[in-house]
Amino acid sequence: MSVSRLVNVKQMVDKARMGKYAIAHINTNNLEWVKSILDAAQSTNSPIIIGVSEGAVKYQCGFKNVVDMVNNVMEFMNITVPVALHLDHGSYDGAIKALEAGFSSVMFDGSHYPFDENVKKTKEIIELAKKYNASVEAEVGSIGGEEDGVIGEGELANVEECKVMSTLGIEMLAAGIGNIHGIYPQNWKGLNFKVLENIACSTNSIPLVLHGGTGIPEDQIKKAISLGISKINVNTECQLAFASATRKYIEDKEDLNTAKKGFDPRKLLKPGAEAIKKTIIEKMTLFGSLGKA
Ligand code: 13P
Repeated sequence: MSVSRLVNVKQMVDKARMGKYAIAHINTNNLEWVKSILDAAQSTNSPIIIGVSEGAVKYQCGFKNVVDMVNNVMEFMNITVPVALHLDHGSYDGAIKALEAGFSSVMFDGSHYPFDENVKKTKEIIELAKKYNASVEAEVGSIGGEEDGVIGEGELANVEECKVMSTLGIEMLAAGIGNIHGIYPQNWKGLNFKVLENIACSTNSIPLVLHGGTGIPEDQIKKAISLGISKINVNTECQLAFASATRKYIEDKEDLNTAKKGFDPRKLLKPGAEAIKKTIIEKMTLFGSLGKA
């Protein structure tokens, strides 16, 4: 078995925090995603974090398959920029399995546990991650914002809890500042910069993570980065770009063009894969990580 080409996130997020830009964390779903993510990063000389949820791990036939696939594709494509393979919103057991399989970074999301238990479990994951030279992202509990059954504000983290969590030895901290996964509702109030400022002041310059990167206005992304956000997670936006390009291919009846073999999956999936790459490059341009490899 060949040596892993993956790196942990420490150096890339620390440099980003100091240089006031953010590293793109792009969730992957399959081989097309892996190729598009790596292509986007290499062609722009940018460091990249490939995020995988436990659901996407299962879909891709397990942790080992994901690790091997990313390493093999990196070797095949001659990827030289720093690439981290990161478990997104990992459970305690999932984080252990990911580390054992060769993920170079894990998020242990203990935000739904009582805070003491979240701290205890996060410490255990940190100890294990050290053995593998892997990095750890933690998340603190949050206060939901709901109005008339519609979540208009997203969650806001408890600053004191962020402070404690930041001292445990994690490489980065995810904390709710009004962000939400998926498409933002019409009545969304935007990111809460007061909370972000308070978290940044209390957590000794630890790189902060912004989840729910899809659909946040550009000025808010830039302001969040200026206040300490060093990693931004994007998933839905790539899925929408992929679906829309694939829809166009089908609506244009390209798949029915038998002379061109438009039904060949390598052709059918190509516009979607190109749309993912384009979206990622747009994100990295906005986050300021181009050329920072
Ligand atoms: P979006 O799907 O909203 O981009 O969020 C992705 C994310 O935060 C993954 O952890």
